[in-house]
Amino acid sequence: MMEELEGLRRSAESDLAAARTEDELTHIKTKYLGRKGALTAILRRIGSLGPEERQQLGKKANELKDFLSQQVEAALVRIRQEDRARKLQKEKIDCTLPGRRVAFGHKHPITIVREEICEIFGRLGFTVVEGPEVETDYYNFTALNIPPDHPARDMQDTFYLDNELLLRTHTSPVQVRTMEQMRPPLRILSPGRVYRPDSDVSHTPMFHQVEGLMVDRGVTFADLKGVLTYFVREMFGPETALRFRPSFFPFTEPSAEVDICCVICRGSGCRVCSQTGWLEILGSGMVDPAVFENVGYDAEEFTGFAFGLGIERIAMLKYGIGDIRLFFENDRRFLAQF
Ligand code: PHE
Repeated sequence: MMEELEGLRRSAESDLAAARTEDELTHIKTKYLGRKGALTAILRRIGSLGPEERQQLGKKANELKDFLSQQVEAALVRIRQEDRARKLQKEKIDCTLPGRRVAFGHKHPITIVREEICEIFGRLGFTVVEGPEVETDYYNFTALNIPPDHPARDMQDTFYLDNELLLRTHTSPVQVRTMEQMRPPLRILSPGRVYRPDSDVSHTPMFHQVEGLMVDRGVTFADLKGVLTYFVREMFGPETALRFRPSFFPFTEPSAEVDICCVICRGSGCRVCSQTGWLEILGSGMVDPAVFENVGYDAEEFTGFAFGLGIERIAMLKYGIGDIRLFFENDRRFLAQF
């Protein structure tokens, strides 16, 4: 029985050394020290031995029992330490790694270009004025020399709200409103949203314009050419070729559209410029005396020029964007490029 006890000690020690989890440990504890465990069975048998043997083996068996209980406790401590070490290893944080970048928002490309346009004309003394997007028929058309039923109204298809109110089709009404309030000399810019029922790769029902107006004594077409040439060179680069092409607007006479040399093919002809080598970027002209009359300016005393351009169009040409709708889809992959 002495040998049995010795064998039990050895096998228990090797079981304990192999234990990796608390569950395994509980199992081992039951196997040796439990009510039906191996050592418990021996202890029971010792009870039926003669006094001498009982004393000797009993002592041994009880020592083994204490020893194994201690070993189980020690194994439990070891397993818990191992668990903790494993967990810490898994959750280890490398404090030397660089931090995650915070994504900053930034200005929309239309805002960037609008600010650039206003800044360039600002250097020439133009200041920004604003007006309502819901306009009266009078300010949007009639005051600009486009009377009711005039065929020129077809040039700008219109969202009407009722007989009198509409969504402005251009920011020219702001110029009329400003002239009603102020006497010349005048140098103003009117940026803002405008509306026309069009929709394709180069038109959206809402888009942005900047219009400009300069009125003073002795303003000539040469001033118009000088100001717009300066603008084109600042916006598109000093080598950009441009031309003034005769055109028609009811509120200006004479009128001219400004074309720049195609930014894609540099003038040799491509799909973007319809093989002409030129791209139209704005409308302009000398203010028609009829408009001055409507705001109470003396057309004998004052002359002026006006111009209007689409911000989306300028942005598309500047950044080489083929579809105007990209500006309004708010796809961050597109917006993040500016
Ligand atoms: N108002 C015109 C438009 O929206 C642009 C323009 C402004 C043309 C001033 C000439 C002079 O089409």
